[in-house]
Amino acid sequence: MSTAYSKADIAALQEAARRHLWLHFTRMSSYSTADVPVIVRGEGQYVFDQNGKRYLDGLAGLFVSQIGHGRSEVAEAGARQASELAYFPLWSYAHPQAIQLAERLAALAPGDLNRVFFTSSGSEAVESAWKLAKQYFKAVGQPSRYKVLSRSIAYHGTSMGALAITGLPGIKEPFEPLPPGGVRVPNTNFYRAPEFVADDVTAFGVWAADEIERAILREGEDSVAAVFLEPCQNSGGCFPPPPGYFQRVRDICDRYGVLLVSDEVICAFGRLGHYFGSERYGYQPDIITFAKGVTSGYAPLGGMLVTDRLMAPFNEGQNTFLHGVTFAGHPVSCAVAMANLDVFEKEDLLGNVRANEAAFRATLGKLTDLPIVGDVRGDGYFYGIELVKDKETRQTFDDDESERLLRGFLSGALFDAGLICRADDRGDPVIQLSPPLTCTQEHFDEMEQILRSVLTAAWTRV
Ligand SMILES: Cc1ncc(COP(=O)(O)O)c(C=O)c1O
Repeated sequence: MSTAYSKADIAALQEAARRHLWLHFTRMSSYSTADVPVIVRGEGQYVFDQNGKRYLDGLAGLFVSQIGHGRSEVAEAGARQASELAYFPLWSYAHPQAIQLAERLAALAPGDLNRVFFTSSGSEAVESAWKLAKQYFKAVGQPSRYKVLSRSIAYHGTSMGALAITGLPGIKEPFEPLPPGGVRVPNTNFYRAPEFVADDVTAFGVWAADEIERAILREGEDSVAAVFLEPCQNSGGCFPPPPGYFQRVRDICDRYGVLLVSDEVICAFGRLGHYFGSERYGYQPDIITFAKGVTSGYAPLGGMLVTDRLMAPFNEGQNTFLHGVTFAGHPVSCAVAMANLDVFEKEDLLGNVRANEAAFRATLGKLTDLPIVGDVRGDGYFYGIELVKDKETRQTFDDDESERLLRGFLSGALFDAGLICRADDRGDPVIQLSPPLTCTQEHFDEMEQILRSVLTAAWTRV
C-alpha cells in the first residue's frame, strides 16, 4: 500500500496542524517553523510518515501496540461490533462484549481479582482505583483512610486525582493545589541507590520497601488507603523491583490494612512476558489498573481489576460505587480487546517475549561500551538507557545540558534516523524502548545500530 501523500496534501496537513491541532505534552512553538511529524500508516513493527518514510516503532506508539500495526482481523472485529451495536453504556445495562471481556480478564488475572470496572483510559483507571479505595474504606467503617503513597518520578496519569498520585513535580506544579493525600516514597532506581545500600540490591529493596512502612507510620496508619506502584516503573527509565521488594511491600500493606494497587497501564498484556506484571514479579495486588495494551490501541479502553473482597460491600443493600464514565467498556473497544487477546494466544506473544528478552537485553547491553551510556535496565520488552556525562562518577547532565542534548539533538536525530523511541528527562536523562511484542533479533539489531550511531554523534556535542 502506498503511503506517500502528494506535496499539496502534505502542505495542507501541515497548515491545518499548525493552525488547529494541539499536541499533548508538546511545546507547540517548536512547530511554528519545523514540520509536525505526521504518521499515516502502520504495518507490523513499523510505521510510515506522510512521505512514505519508514520508522521502527520502538515505543509501540506510547507503550500500546503490543501486537503491532495493521492487523486487519482486529480492525474487522471492531467494524463488525460497530455495525451490530456501536454504543451502549455500562450504567445499569450491560452488553455481551463487556461481559465476555470481563470474564476473560478475570480468568487471566492472578488470585481473586475477579471483578472488572472498565474505563476508557489509564488515567481514568487510576482515578477509579483511588475513588474505589476511598469509598470502600468508608463502606467498611474506616472513613479516615484516604491518602495514597506512590514513588518519586512515577507517572500515573494526568487527571487531577491521578496527577496527585503522579510523582513528577514539574507536571504537577501548574495545577496545584491538587486533591490532598498524595505522598511520595523512594523509587527503585538501583543505579542511583543511596550509598549505604549501593552495593547490595537486596538490601536496597529492603530499604525502599521499609520507606513505605515509615511513610505509613509518619502519615498515620489509619489515614492511608493505598499504595500505587508499577511493577516496573516507567518514568525515570525502567526501574525493575529489587528481589523481594514486592513481597515485603505486600507484607507491609497487610500489616497496616493498606491496599496494594498495581498500576499496570504499561506493564500488563505481555510487556514483561506475562499477562500481568505482578505475575512476573510474584506478588498479589488488591487492584490492577490497566489500559493501553489491552486493545493494542485498535480502540481506547482501560479499567481496573479488583478482588472479591473489595467488591463485597458494593454487593449489599443500597450500596453503589458512585462513579462512571460514558465510554467505559465501549462495545467496539471490548470486541477489539477480545480479538487482540486472540492474537496473543494464536501467536504465543508471551512466549515470544520470554524467549527473546535475554537477546533484547544483550543487544541493548552492547551500547554500554559508549561513554554516554551509564546504565541499561528493564525486563521483558521494556528497557531504559540512562545517559551520563561521566560514567565513572555517574554524573548526570544539568538542566541546560539535558535540554540541549535531548530536545536540541537526540529526539530529532533518533526520529530522523528512523527509530521511534522516547528521550525523556523528567528524571535523569534516559531513552525508553518498549517495542511491539512481535519484535525479534533483526529489530533489536536495528534499534541498537540506530542508537549507536545517534548516541555516538550526541557524545561529540557533550
Ligand atoms: C503507569 C501509568 N499509569 C497511568 C497512565 C495514564 O494513562 P492514560 O494516558 O491512558 O490516561 C500511564 C500513561 O502512560 C501510565 O504509564
